[in-house]
Amino acid sequence: MAESRVAGSVQTEDEKKIRRILSGMQATGELHIGHYLGVLTNFAKLQNEAECFFMVANLHSLTTFYPNYHDAHRFIAPMISDWLAAGISPEKATIFVQSDVSEHAELSQLFAMFTPLSWLERNPTYKDKQANTDKDIETLGFLGYPVLQAADITLYDATHVPIGEDQLPHLELTREIARRFNHYYPLDGKNVLTIPQAILSSYPKVVGLDGRKMSKSYNNSILLNDDTPTLTKKMMSMKTDTARVHRTDPGNPDNCPVFSYYDFFAPDLKAEVDVGCRNATLGCVDCKKQIITRMDKTLVPFREKRKELANDKNKINEILSSGAKKAQKVAQTTIQRVKDALGMFSDYKL
Ligand code: TRP
Ligand code: SF4
Repeated sequence: MAESRVAGSVQTEDEKKIRRILSGMQATGELHIGHYLGVLTNFAKLQNEAECFFMVANLHSLTTFYPNYHDAHRFIAPMISDWLAAGISPEKATIFVQSDVSEHAELSQLFAMFTPLSWLERNPTYKDKQANTDKDIETLGFLGYPVLQAADITLYDATHVPIGEDQLPHLELTREIARRFNHYYPLDGKNVLTIPQAILSSYPKVVGLDGRKMSKSYNNSILLNDDTPTLTKKMMSMKTDTARVHRTDPGNPDNCPVFSYYDFFAPDLKAEVDVGCRNATLGCVDCKKQIITRMDKTLVPFREKRKELANDKNKINEILSSGAKKAQKVAQTTIQRVKDALGMFSDYKL
């Protein structure tokens, strides 16, 4: 569904080739349709095109949830069930939890030893988050957030990382850290770490009920698990073109958040709605009812799959434990290569 483009400058054909993908997501609450449309459908598509590792970034969650980490941990299983219901398959991709593969913490610590503080202090997401949170995040872990992310990515020799625009500075830091390591520590004259590239989803941001970006913190989300009555109630309260006060007033779909949902859920009806809105033959209530029906239709299979998963209590555990084993095998070989390059051998003969 979502098209992808690779960020960056001119690349050779070989550099463009997607060999291995790693991406991560924090489990910090229920997922909404923005996650579904922007991220999960993209993961589900990519798993058919390359070897994929999809990770729950729970060590990263610890940077903001450290006073009550268990609150974040309990979101992991429901999030994985959303991933699976959206079509991400353990047969195609390796799905695992970061802290189950201790190599993430290990490589992050090694990277920390040569990552200049100035690189981290000038990281825009660091400054931004610091300015916009009420949590105390003046910690070593939070400053080092991108160092851990660099470990996540390089442990798997990921050539490509599907991420949102907001994560680009982190990917740039990953590249810088990996280049620095390669520069200091070649192995047999070769680079030890793969320099990754971003895959930016070209999917437009999904707007929320109030017309701002859909986000948990704005309380304007349609959750993936909202049932039909909840979905209907939320959509009926959604903002429309504010200039269209009376049913007889012509509207402008370009200024209407409801209309943007037609892009995602009913592109075939767009032209018709556009005309009907502009000449006031279509009212907002009918326009909303029509898109609700389409949204519901898209989400029904998702809900059913999720219900099925809820009946199999052990399934998520099994998937995550076999995923961790598979991930760890790869991670261990990278750690070994890194230690070999460093000359950090467990061999202490005089
Ligand atoms: N920082 C990412 C986010 O908040 C999550 C993340 C952690 C990640 N490790 C990653 C994303 C590695 C891509 C690759 O969205
Ligand atoms: Fe928006 Fe539809 Fe109303 Fe036009 S008719 S303003 S597109 S809800």
